[in-house]
Amino acid sequence: MTTDAKILAALRANPDGVSGAQLAEQLAISRAAVWARIDDLRKVGYDIEAGPHFGYKLVASPDALHADDLLARLGKTKVVGRDIQVFEETTSTNDVVEKLARDGVKEGVVVFAESQTKGRGRLGRVWQSPTRKGLWFSVLLRPNLRPQETTQLTVISATAMRRAIKTVTGLSADIKWPNDLLIGGKKVVGILTEMSAEVDRVRYIIIGIGVDVNQGMAEFPEELRRLATSLKLETGEEVCRGELATEIMRELDRDYARICAGKFPEVADEWEAACITMGRNVTVHTGDRKFRGRAESLDDDGALLVRTEHGHLERIIGGDVTLEK
Ligand code: BTN
Repeated sequence: MTTDAKILAALRANPDGVSGAQLAEQLAISRAAVWARIDDLRKVGYDIEAGPHFGYKLVASPDALHADDLLARLGKTKVVGRDIQVFEETTSTNDVVEKLARDGVKEGVVVFAESQTKGRGRLGRVWQSPTRKGLWFSVLLRPNLRPQETTQLTVISATAMRRAIKTVTGLSADIKWPNDLLIGGKKVVGILTEMSAEVDRVRYIIIGIGVDVNQGMAEFPEELRRLATSLKLETGEEVCRGELATEIMRELDRDYARICAGKFPEVADEWEAACITMGRNVTVHTGDRKFRGRAESLDDDGALLVRTEHGHLERIIGGDVTLEK
C-alpha cells in the first residue's frame, strides 16, 4: 500500500480522528511528512479536518475514484484488487487490461476509468460510459481453466455483483443469462468477458464490468430509457461509487477463490436461485441461428441448457437470450 492509502485507511478506521504523531509512527515518516500528504489529499478533494484534540479526521471524500483510496478501503485480498489503476479517460478499460495482460502483468489488477470513449458491450454493441456516473472497470485473471470452462467466470461475476449491490444499496437484482443484472426488469449491470486462450489452456481472461450508478433518467439516451436503470434511480439516493467498487472487488475475490478451490457448483446454485431465465420460454440468437425453447438449467461449466421446441437439449455458451412474455 502507498503512504496515501495507509493514511486514508487509518482515517477510515478512526472516524473520531487520529493524531499526527500516531500516523507518523505507524507509517514510519515524520509528522511534517504526514502533514504534507494530508495537504495533498485535501487538494484532490478529501475534506480532512485537523484539531488539537482529535488530530486528523476524514469528514468527506470526493466523488471521484482514487486508486489509493480504493486500496485503503479494500484492504487485503487474495487476488482481485492487488493492484488498482484509475484513469480519467480511456478508450475501453478492457483494452488497457489487455495491454497489461500481454505485458505479462500478474492476475488481479483492476483498471477503472471515469469515462470511456469507446466502451463496448457484448455482441459488438456500444456501451455508454458517462463521466463519473457509473463504474466502468476491467479485471485481469489467469485462471487454471480450459477455454470451455470460462463461462464459470461469467457466472461468478454476476453473483459477486449481485451481492455487492445488495450490501451497498439493499437492492435485489435479478440475473438474466449469462450475466446481465436487472432491477425491475431494467438492466443496471453489463459484463463483457474476453479471453486469450490456446486450444486447451486459458492464457488470460478480462472481465469488463459496467454499472449504471448515479445517472438520472435524462442522462440515459432516449432509446435506453425503457430498458436501463441506475442504482440512484432505484434507491432515490446517490450511491457512493468508491464504496460500491470496493465491495464488488471483495465479492469477486471471494467467488474467484471459490472456483479456484473447485467449488463452482456452490456458486452455480446461488446463481440459479437468482436467475430469472431459468424455467422461462426464451428466444436464443447465436451467430446466425435463432430458435425458441425453455431454459432448463446450467451445466457444470456454466453453459445454459435450453430444451428446444423440438425436444432437443441445446448447450448455449454465447449469444443473446431474450425472455418471452
Ligand atoms: C454488455 O452488457 O453488453 C456488457 C457491457 C460491458 C461494459 C463494460 S464497461 C467496462 C468495460 N469496458 C468496456 O469497453 N466494456 C466493459
